Amino acid sequence: MRKRIQNLICLALAFVLVLSMAACGRAGNSPEQTSSAAPSEETGSPAASAAATDADADKSHSEGSRILVVYFSRTGEQYTVGVIDHGNTAIVAEMIAEETGADLFEILPEDDHYPMTYAELTDVAKKEQNEKARPAYAGDVPDLSQYDTVFIGAPVWWGDWPMIMYTFFEENAEALSGKTLVPFSTHEGSGLSGFDKKLSSAIPGSSVQSGFAARGNDCQNDQDSVRSAVNDWIAGLGF
Ligand SMILES: Cc1cc2nc3c(=O)[nH]c(=O)nc-3n(C[C@H](O)[C@H](O)[C@H](O)COP(=O)(O)O)c2cc1C
Repeated sequence: MRKRIQNLICLALAFVLVLSMAACGRAGNSPEQTSSAAPSEETGSPAASAAATDADADKSHSEGSRILVVYFSRTGEQYTVGVIDHGNTAIVAEMIAEETGADLFEILPEDDHYPMTYAELTDVAKKEQNEKARPAYAGDVPDLSQYDTVFIGAPVWWGDWPMIMYTFFEENAEALSGKTLVPFSTHEGSGLSGFDKKLSSAIPGSSVQSGFAARGNDCQNDQDSVRSAVNDWIAGLGF
């Protein structure tokens, strides 16, 4: 009988011990959880990652599927930057696409008759301008009815859009009419060079927004400042 009572007392004490350890455990964790909450958000707790993923998905769904970036750009020898393998305008186009979640379409000449040396390229471009040439481009333009906004960019060539861009404008004028168009250029001194007004005339019925111009040299050698200017411009447009 005495043994049974001793056993019961031991069992009760063990039970009390288990309860108090559980209570201590909860109290001990509490400050750690509080102090680690902020860093875990920054360092990517599952909850923080899920929120970021949702935000990214919203961005690409609401903006990426409705925005297109069309651009023309050349590699090879370019003014002040030597021989480049990533065109200045291509760099800006990609920054815009990254920032807005847009799709990209590059205008490539059907027959690439553009020389890779700067002096020869300027001659060919001048001849095309004088002749009001409409060089053909390759590939199929994406279905423009999917897009509300089209960013359109090119290098300034002799103070104007390269003639191949007029081919694109004229062939797609009807599909682009009624859309929001946003011009951008890269250049070495001429800025936007009237790209906005020329675009407005080429595509009647479009709403042409405030454009953006970057120096080609900065696109190669100061990409942080170009990216920051691109992002400020896009934010100013409300995207
Ligand atoms: C044929 C040709 C004509 C150019 N004309 C001008 C011009 O009128 N004004 C200007 O500021 N830059 C002019 N440039 C410089 C380009 O606009 C500049 O280097 C641009 O960033 C090139 O971009 P890309 O690498 O995307 O082709 C010209 C360059 C070429 C090749």
